[in-house]
Amino acid sequence: MKGLHIGDLFVKVPVIQGGMGVGISLYGLASAVANQGGVGVISAVGIGMTEPDYLKNLQKANLTALRKQIQKARSLTDGVLGVNIMLAVTDCDELIRVSIEEEIDIIFIGAGLPLKIPAQIGLDKMKTMKTKIVPKLSSGKAVALVARYWDAKYNMVPPAFVIEGPKAGGHLGFSPEDLKAENIQLEDLIEEAVEAVKPYEEKYGIEIPIIAAGGIYDGHDMREIFKSGAKAVKMGTRFVTTYECDADIEFKNSYLACEKDDIEIVVSPVGMPGRVIRNKFVDEIKAGEQKPYKCSWRCIKTCDYKKVQYCIARVLFNAADGKMDQGFSFAGSNAYKADRIQSVKEVFDELKYEFEAKELEAATV
Ligand SMILES: Cc1cc2nc3c(=O)[nH]c(=O)nc-3n(C[C@H](O)[C@H](O)[C@H](O)COP(=O)(O)O)c2cc1C
Repeated sequence: MKGLHIGDLFVKVPVIQGGMGVGISLYGLASAVANQGGVGVISAVGIGMTEPDYLKNLQKANLTALRKQIQKARSLTDGVLGVNIMLAVTDCDELIRVSIEEEIDIIFIGAGLPLKIPAQIGLDKMKTMKTKIVPKLSSGKAVALVARYWDAKYNMVPPAFVIEGPKAGGHLGFSPEDLKAENIQLEDLIEEAVEAVKPYEEKYGIEIPIIAAGGIYDGHDMREIFKSGAKAVKMGTRFVTTYECDADIEFKNSYLACEKDDIEIVVSPVGMPGRVIRNKFVDEIKAGEQKPYKCSWRCIKTCDYKKVQYCIARVLFNAADGKMDQGFSFAGSNAYKADRIQSVKEVFDELKYEFEAKELEAATV
């Protein structure tokens, strides 16, 4: 397995752990992954809910908690650390500012097109800061759009892109119809994205790696997606069932207990489809049951917070906290494959072994 270059940053093992909110990937999981040579990612969304007094001021709690989590992770590893920030959250700019102040290695920015981010951060700062900004998108078209915009307006391009396909866990950038029809393949999206960055690789004389996410579970999946041109993978689901994952054991147990048919799509109150593990709570919301909630602060820009059926941030944090009767687990389509809790080191050993066994097999045929 070859390492990954993102600009001047080198990642020894081309495995990025997907940022998982709310409260699933914090400093524990992120530092463990970074210590194995991958990129450990802290999810910034709703991170303030991990603070005891967050109800008083969630916005302030988010910034305090993010800073704390980055510092704790950094105290445990010299490896590569990232944060995952969604453009759709109200405090996106502030979360970016804190992450840059803390000199995080990479900010993965998802849930929207990050066209104006360089202007918001400041062009001089963009050129001198240690932190890399890596957009997470769902199509080659979106990659072309962002690269064209950054090139024309700022005379720069992102140093890498993540392409997240339809099999991923969490909120998804595809319509419920496309998800149901299963007519979009990650392999095709990767090939399109690889083509989309080529003109900019030539113009700037750099490599812009494409990182594949969504449904990658083992070393065989990695090898297959590398054939389409991906240079690394971003995996969320696989890291949930690790000792180091920051979620409660009940959350991890929901993965161990689920069958393939239990994994389904719901449309979340913020208007995006999300993949979840079916439980009683999911059945109740699908039956139209209104869930009580108190909105202390409209944390997602698109949330119609006076009318929603339930608070998505609260429900996700309840699940991370083990209160499965008051929430649900986001999960990728391969969550049913988990059959035990492993250490992050075991996951990395397995990924490398499976990947290399396949390489060897191919070389001897
Ligand atoms: C439990 C869970 C929570 C997630 N939360 C977020 C999130 O808050 N923001 C985000 O951009 N992506 C989120 N994701 C997506 C991951 O970062 C990653 O891209 C995805 O898990 C990759 O697909 P996989 O789960 O099939 O490996 C989440 C995924 C899972 C499984």
